[in-house]
Amino acid sequence: MTSPEPSRFTLDHRLPAGHFDRELRADARAGLTATPKVLPPKWFYDERGSALFDEITRLPEYYLTRAEREILHARAAGIARLTGARSLAELGSGTSEKTRVLLDALTAAGTLERYAPVDVSPAPLREAGAALRTAYPALRITATVADFEHDLTLPRDPAPVLVAFLGSTLGNLDTPRRAAFFTALRAALRPGDSLLLGADLVKDPQTLIRAYDDSRGITAEFNRNVLHVLNEGLDADFQPDTFQHRAVWNPEEERMEMRLRSRTAQSVKLPAAGLTADFAEGEELLTEISVKFRRDRLTAELADGGFTLTEWWTDTAARYALLLATPTP
Ligand code: AVJ
Repeated sequence: MTSPEPSRFTLDHRLPAGHFDRELRADARAGLTATPKVLPPKWFYDERGSALFDEITRLPEYYLTRAEREILHARAAGIARLTGARSLAELGSGTSEKTRVLLDALTAAGTLERYAPVDVSPAPLREAGAALRTAYPALRITATVADFEHDLTLPRDPAPVLVAFLGSTLGNLDTPRRAAFFTALRAALRPGDSLLLGADLVKDPQTLIRAYDDSRGITAEFNRNVLHVLNEGLDADFQPDTFQHRAVWNPEEERMEMRLRSRTAQSVKLPAAGLTADFAEGEELLTEISVKFRRDRLTAELADGGFTLTEWWTDTAARYALLLATPTP
């Protein structure tokens, strides 16, 4: 099989073999021996977890995805004009479904040549690559499997580069990790490049709690899925139904927290991690933080990281923000 043209789709696997098993083991060991117990939210997303998250984005209570889509639709042409992007890099791209609005606008503007999605899962990147090749025949697609918190390698050519970080995934990072992320991102960009960031906003706790504790129990199942992932990956014997889903508003940190509360005193074995985790009755495991933002604070955080806020757009109900920032000269 030889091709006369260079391939328009490449997949660069930057995670070493065995990376996930090692990391899952390390995260379980560190998190389940800590007080309080904690696990990183990235472990929700195996195939079942990704399907559950997809369902969440369609729930009436989970407004985030729809609000972001509304803003993207209204502002995509403006984003294309303001950034003049010739390369679009996307962090945590998944299947790139929500990115199409942006790809359409940048294609219509006539500037876009390259799309560089980055995700920790190769499967959705392959899927996206196959679909986008057909939909955007002139586009060069260079996908990367990487964990952007450890390895933020971004394309530099052709410049200018627009980096999209959508879905309020930023909210999964606590304050020090957001600072480290902005600093690393700033170092990967040059004058003329831009950042497009989606961020969920502080609002009344009731709306937030409903968004993270839906009436159909999909979010509860998504939360408990991390226990299925530990069972699969570490041969653990969690009984997910013995843990209750909790969605809690933390007013000091202005963030939603998802927790799993053990209904009974129990001892869970994780042989592949060489670990036994003892839970007291009612003991909670923190599985995710989703920080909610205010304009002033986020502007200041961006400034500390070397970015100047240039645009701030919200949906009509002002629940969610999409912003543009540029490297501060
Ligand atoms: C994909 C991390 C942005 O925090 O709102 C959805 C994940 N958790 N429901 C979020 C999630 C519970 C979501 N992020």
